[in-house]
Amino acid sequence: MRKPIVAGNWKMNKTVADAVTLVSDLKLDLADLLGVDIVVCPPFTALKSVVDTVSGSRIYVGAQNMHWEKSGAFTGEISAEMLREIYVHYVILGHSERRQYFGETDEIVNKKTKAAHAANLKPIVCVGETLAEREGGNTFAVIEKQVRGSLNGLTKMELTNTIVAYEPVWAIGTGKTATTAQAQEVHAHIRKLLAAISDDTTAQSVRIQYGGSVKASNAKELFSQPDIDGGLIGGASLEPRSFIEIVKAALK
Ligand code: PGA
Repeated sequence: MRKPIVAGNWKMNKTVADAVTLVSDLKLDLADLLGVDIVVCPPFTALKSVVDTVSGSRIYVGAQNMHWEKSGAFTGEISAEMLREIYVHYVILGHSERRQYFGETDEIVNKKTKAAHAANLKPIVCVGETLAEREGGNTFAVIEKQVRGSLNGLTKMELTNTIVAYEPVWAIGTGKTATTAQAQEVHAHIRKLLAAISDDTTAQSVRIQYGGSVKASNAKELFSQPDIDGGLIGGASLEPRSFIEIVKAALK
């Protein structure tokens, strides 16, 4: 009953010209695809051109970050309203690279998540443990802290419109994918946490993506797990063939 969602996180890649080329190729294959929500998340500079290019297709556009305030003296930042103004519909929040390199805490991610909802943007909220945390047996504790902290105070409706991305930090860009069993185990745990902070019906409605070295070759098996509702794709989203195959792997 949950519609799978596959999002491409392009990170700090692609000129405007390259972004338009990539998304034009995606549009040729995916424009009319039903059954999977498709999102591409280019860098800020390419957002408007990509929005214009996907127009008339079923591909949505997301940003990779935003500030929680509406406007003001925040040099270098962009607000949810600014993203909505150019018809961006999603925003990735709390990616592990932002947590690690830019000091984003659960509290900051929480403020951004609330601001995104207030502006009618759907947040893709990322959580995930490091290798040391996994090896120390702390995966569930770390995930619980991040889920509770990042989603604190959301209404049930806001939770339903939130996408959670489970991305084990040790699997991002490393070629090391979590096994389907490892991924499913954490996804089921996240769903239990969502039920604890809201209720079972709400928890059942939230899409939980897996991210971390998803490729065309492993996507189908990951996406077939009961609590895995699609993926957040980094490296493999930079090339049209692999992203298209991954999107199609999410079709039920
Ligand atoms: P990857 O990145 O697919 O390149 O591992 C995923 C992500 O960081 O969202």
